Amino acid sequence: ETIVEKVEKDNPDIKTIYKAADIIKKGGVVAFPTETVYGLGANSFDDKAIDKIFIAKGRPQDNPLILHVNNVEEVYLLVETVDKKAKKVMESFWPGPLTLIFKKSEKVSKKLTGGLSTVAIRMPKHKIASEIIKYSKVPIAAPSANLSGKPSPTNAEHVIRDLYGRVDMIIDGGDTGIGVESTVLDISQDIPTILRPGGVTYEDLIKIFPKVEYDQSIIKDDEDIVPKSPGQKYKHYAPKAKMIVFSGNIEDIPSAIKKYSKKAEEEGKKLGIMATEETKKEYSGENILVVGSRKEKDTIAKNLFKVLRQFDDLNVDIILAEGVDTTGIGTAIMNRMKKACGGNIIKV
Ligand code: TXA
Ligand code: MG
Repeated sequence: ETIVEKVEKDNPDIKTIYKAADIIKKGGVVAFPTETVYGLGANSFDDKAIDKIFIAKGRPQDNPLILHVNNVEEVYLLVETVDKKAKKVMESFWPGPLTLIFKKSEKVSKKLTGGLSTVAIRMPKHKIASEIIKYSKVPIAAPSANLSGKPSPTNAEHVIRDLYGRVDMIIDGGDTGIGVESTVLDISQDIPTILRPGGVTYEDLIKIFPKVEYDQSIIKDDEDIVPKSPGQKYKHYAPKAKMIVFSGNIEDIPSAIKKYSKKAEEEGKKLGIMATEETKKEYSGENILVVGSRKEKDTIAKNLFKVLRQFDDLNVDIILAEGVDTTGIGTAIMNRMKKACGGNIIKV
């Protein structure tokens, strides 16, 4: 009952786009690729359609959704005010992997915002996503297209596994580019604050603002800090296996992992190791997956969720993962790893 159609990423068949837009206009839900991860979209002005998203994903009702637009004019209808810093940040990074938090206007349903008085908006940079928004003629509410608690989908196979039979249509547009979700930046207050690190980095943002802050829950290991972004409080991206992240100096990480893996193997545990191009030679054993290159952390971001799902398929009991340094996209990578392991981090 779920329609699955494959299209070219940069030149999607317009008939498929029309079909998707039509389903959305009629109150249905459609999964489609964006440059970050796949999203599950519905008409944001239709409360019943929004309900379908929450049901399909098994998502808690208090976790708000992001509105996806394809021109800046639409933003003016959806928010209270567009101030100087909003204009500047939209000009600099849209379309792209950046979600902005504004005070919402009357037009935005509380169903979408989980009762909050703010709204999250982003303009994706992906031909398929932006064409669907264009032809639906409404802002599209879309969370990541995974079952709640699973890693976000970075290809159509992931979406099919999680949501086939639960949604009206899945558009297969191949692998997404960035691989982790958008940066969520709160600009509803004076100092822009990063609520979720992502494709647009702190280093990018500090070029256009005199000051940028991180929400405390991102930088502190303290589990008691309540994140400002509701979604950040849930256990996320969790693989079935127990996961441990080893952080610190990369010179020391492989030997710490080898030591730990010896112990785990003695206990009869099936082990998985998440390694990088530069370190893979250090390890021996069966379930060693290379997530990317430490020299190009973009490749680690791109593959992270796919590799977490591969460990699920391998049915390992424990995943031992190398951490990365937190410059650039590294902050987003470590944020997702930290969630995947439930805070199980060994500092070496
Ligand atoms: O890259 C992305 O952002 C993907 C693609 C599909 O666009 N979408 C995505 O949506 O990751 P989702 O629902 O999985 O994550 C949205 C995040 C959640 O952490 C949510 O709590 C936060 O944005 N959020 C949404 N509205 C908010 C608001 N008004 N205030 C604070 N955080 C908000
Ligand atoms: Mg999500």
